[in-house]
Amino acid sequence: MANQRRQTHCEHIWITGASSGIGRHLAIKLANLGHRVIISARNRQALEDMASEHEGLIPLAVDVAAPGAKENACRRLAQLTPRLDRIILSAGCCEYFDVDRPDWQMMERVMSVNYFGAVNSIAAALPLMGANGHIVAMASQASRVPFPRAQAYGASKAALTYLLESLGVDLHSKGIDVTVVQLGFVDTPMTADNDFPMPFLMSAEAAADQLLRQLSQRPRLIRFPRRLSWMISLGQKMPGLWYRYIAPRLSRAQEEQQRARTQV
Ligand SMILES: NC(=O)c1ccc[n+]([C@@H]2O[C@H](COP(=O)([O-])OP(=O)(O)OC[C@H]3O[C@@H](n4cnc5c(N)ncnc54)[C@H](OP(=O)(O)O)[C@@H]3O)[C@@H](O)[C@H]2O)c1
Repeated sequence: MANQRRQTHCEHIWITGASSGIGRHLAIKLANLGHRVIISARNRQALEDMASEHEGLIPLAVDVAAPGAKENACRRLAQLTPRLDRIILSAGCCEYFDVDRPDWQMMERVMSVNYFGAVNSIAAALPLMGANGHIVAMASQASRVPFPRAQAYGASKAALTYLLESLGVDLHSKGIDVTVVQLGFVDTPMTADNDFPMPFLMSAEAAADQLLRQLSQRPRLIRFPRRLSWMISLGQKMPGLWYRYIAPRLSRAQEEQQRARTQV
């Protein structure tokens, strides 16, 4: 809302995955601070509804994984903004693998959004980003240790993390900062149907607030919640503990697995 717009220095920001969850909260908060925020996702109507409710939001419907996504986004971004100060890559999807009924195609689907979607978005945005630019991507703590059924999701976020870290090395000399965000469990449409325990689950609103506080410092890595991070660090140091005791407790219940199999 106009009366909530507080910040004087107006950044030009592009957020992908802005129609729901963490991306949506970030977009609205940044617009309320007085920034000009281009919001992208596939759901055009959701983006237009957001833009009509919040001053400073500019809808740009894009499927980041579609053929030609890079060229399409690049051309349309250039029509909407003279420059990009920051991009926040939040577009993502999650599908769970079942070793008993493997869907190998899923690896490609998840990778095409979570990894190649980010590649396409960075390629589209970089020509508009000068020195002092900031690239932010939503990876995940899931890539730090093996979570049950997370073969596709975890691998895609591990690849994304490496891509960003490596880009951080090469873009440093151009004055562009790169931040990898590794969150734990956040209550959004993505996690709404999860049928297993989600320790230290936090709200999307709280995650967006914490992210915004830390993003202003442009660190290379943002990782929270801290208690999940500690649990995972312990698992990395003591793999036996992770494989035998912690990871099995993050599996869905046996009866749930049985029900899922009989439903297929
Ligand atoms: N929630 C968690 O616990 C958690 C934890 C760690 C990391 N993350 C990561 O944080 C990011 C945001 O997740 P979230 O929890 O906020 O999920 P969400 O509410 O499901 O939001 C995902 C967003 O991505 C968009 N999207 C999906 N596929 C797309 C595509 N092909 N092209 C363009 N946009 C696409 C969706 O909009 P459309 O469907 O309209 O395209 C939506 O706006 C994701 O990258 C996720 O992996 C989430």
